Amino acid sequence: MAYGLLKGKRGIITGALDEKSIAWKVALKAKEEGATFTLSNAPIAMRMGAIKQLAEQCDAEIISADATSLEDIENLYTKSMDVLGGKIDFVLHSIGMSPNIRKNKPYGDLNYDWYQKSIDVSALSFHKMMQTAEKLDAINEWGSFVALSYIAAQRTFPFYTDMADAKAILESIARGYGYRYGKLKNVRVNTVSQSPTMTTAGSGVGGFDVFYEYAGLMSPLGNATAEDCANYVITLFSDLTRMVTMQNLLHDGGFSSVGISEDMAVKLTQVHQQQQ
Ligand SMILES: NC(=O)c1ccc[n+]([C@@H]2O[C@H](COP(=O)([O-])OP(=O)(O)OC[C@H]3O[C@@H](n4cnc5c(N)ncnc54)[C@H](O)[C@@H]3O)[C@@H](O)[C@H]2O)c1
Repeated sequence: MAYGLLKGKRGIITGALDEKSIAWKVALKAKEEGATFTLSNAPIAMRMGAIKQLAEQCDAEIISADATSLEDIENLYTKSMDVLGGKIDFVLHSIGMSPNIRKNKPYGDLNYDWYQKSIDVSALSFHKMMQTAEKLDAINEWGSFVALSYIAAQRTFPFYTDMADAKAILESIARGYGYRYGKLKNVRVNTVSQSPTMTTAGSGVGGFDVFYEYAGLMSPLGNATAEDCANYVITLFSDLTRMVTMQNLLHDGGFSSVGISEDMAVKLTQVHQQQQ
């Protein structure tokens, strides 16, 4: 059901790689809620072609941008304002990548060049997107930035290696820039800390299946899906959440507040019984 929550708003949605991507679902919802927006992804992701299908569905233009390149980001804003006919109201940062995770490097054997790449792509790019927007004065008053995070920023999940550090920086940037942009233009900045989700980035993390199942068993509501996440993000782009800023918002079915669940206790009891 659509509510017209984003009627008349202009946005930029990054990170839609394929149908499973969280950004893909956000784009579909944003369209449903009346927004116009551009879609962006790294040049390499463009070649895979799926984003064109989404662009057609959403009647959106695609603007290629490597999120680590200031020049690309500047072009993304300038072109978006041109195509959409004015300043931007919302930006989704849905970008994450760790070469160390891709190459299965454990936390005690990280390649530091790759580490810097992880931080640049997954965290600094958020700062770059806001700093560039500020310089170009590309965002309307009461605009909204959202980036996607994961609870490994606060608690240790060994397989998440350097991405955990990147997410901690990402969340800190949301506070730092949220303060600045709030004072400057009433623009709000938040991160949404999402449940493990079966996407290309998600399932690339070692042991993903196990912590997906674990999080599902621990959360009273189960794991939040990409579509649930999209619904939540839309509220953050809407005028209904104008006073929410500088927050890391846990969108996790209750996972972060549970010590142990009954479902997990049952599972462990079964394991014990099998061992006896
Ligand atoms: N899937 C999960 O379990 C999960 C949980 C919490 C948070 N997140 C976060 O959600 C966000 C979106 O990930 P997803 O799960 O939808 O996976 P995804 O693989 O569909 O999306 C990741 C996107 O990042 C893009 N990207 C990588 N390098 C880039 C660059 N240099 N410039 C521009 N774009 C680049 C990829 O092309 C891709 O579209 C990420 O920040 C991820 O860390 C995912």
